Amino acid sequence: MDIVQEAKKVHEDVIRLRREIHQNPELSFKERDTAKLVAETLEQLDVPFQSGCGGHGLVARFDTPGAQRTIAFRGDMDALPITEETGLPFASKNLGVMHACGHDIHTAMLMGTAMLLKRCADKLTVNVRLVFQPAEERPPGGAVAMMRDGLADEGIDEIYGIHVFPLLGTGQFISRPGPFFAAPDTFKITIVGKGGHAAAPHNNIDPVPIAAEVVTALQTIASRTARPCDPMVLSVSTIHGGTVFNVTPDTVEMTGTVRTFSAELKETVPARMHQICDAVTRAHGASYELNYESGYMPLINDAGCVEKARAASAEIFGEDSFDANVEPMMFGEDFAHYLQTIPGAFIMLGVGGDKPADAAMLHTPRFIPDEEAFYRGPALFANIALRA
Ligand code: NI
Repeated sequence: MDIVQEAKKVHEDVIRLRREIHQNPELSFKERDTAKLVAETLEQLDVPFQSGCGGHGLVARFDTPGAQRTIAFRGDMDALPITEETGLPFASKNLGVMHACGHDIHTAMLMGTAMLLKRCADKLTVNVRLVFQPAEERPPGGAVAMMRDGLADEGIDEIYGIHVFPLLGTGQFISRPGPFFAAPDTFKITIVGKGGHAAAPHNNIDPVPIAAEVVTALQTIASRTARPCDPMVLSVSTIHGGTVFNVTPDTVEMTGTVRTFSAELKETVPARMHQICDAVTRAHGASYELNYESGYMPLINDAGCVEKARAASAEIFGEDSFDANVEPMMFGEDFAHYLQTIPGAFIMLGVGGDKPADAAMLHTPRFIPDEEAFYRGPALFANIALRA
């Protein structure tokens, strides 16, 4: 049986389902209609499934008599609070909400995987679970909820997930053994000064220059605190203070993100941030508040599973189709939670067309993935299952 030919037969269905989800995006923990579409599709295919797992999650089951092992594939279903600017005929009808991270594609490709496995179920020697996960974008995330709600008891031996990626040519797979994505933490800092007339700074405690010093000093955590070979990112991403040019504000608020791989460094960063905020603000007679929120764990791929995925891709798409040696990236993903207890691999699939360098990035309002890639996800998943 030619998996690629079979996958191409479900390509149109994957595109159709993805466009339908794209047009009707739902935010994290609110994926009710998306879950309903998945349930209807699985019913039509006569694939048994459980719904309402960890919120709106679903688990589809392919049970093989006498099977010793269970392989799972995961697709996430939630969208982002972004106003779409693609101008596509199937653009979001839900104003202010957009599938800008491609989770519409992940869900549709997982339904395509169900279609494909249905066609080759007699050749499976393992059980398969298709995990339709809600709420990837918002900690604590849907993975934790689904595992708590019964997924952890399914006896899953290996788990695989695919994320589309526009900065990569259409159809190309990439991954790596070990650390692949970072732990994404978030923070909010408020510099508390004393406002007044901007022409009389001696009567005020101006939080604006203090905030500027804090931003600069925070950069030393990455350059002076972290070990040089221990990658980290600290980005102050928003900064807000004041209303008009001639008034010094009382406060300045800043938010940002910290990305790390090592647990030790992840522990150290908030303590260093407190030291810096404390020392800088005290030097100027101001004070501060720091809210630091720990996000997902770093995503650590199992080397054996990465190799299985690479070999499954090489078999059907050729040796060059899967680069299993790329550098780690500083994105975050709650797929990391599964990998805490289940060996598995997270894989990126290129959707950037012929000129991926010019493609709009994930999480931007003009993200337009190349639909040509959409049959390759189901083909890879099905072939991993068939080779298991
Ligand atoms: Ni995503």
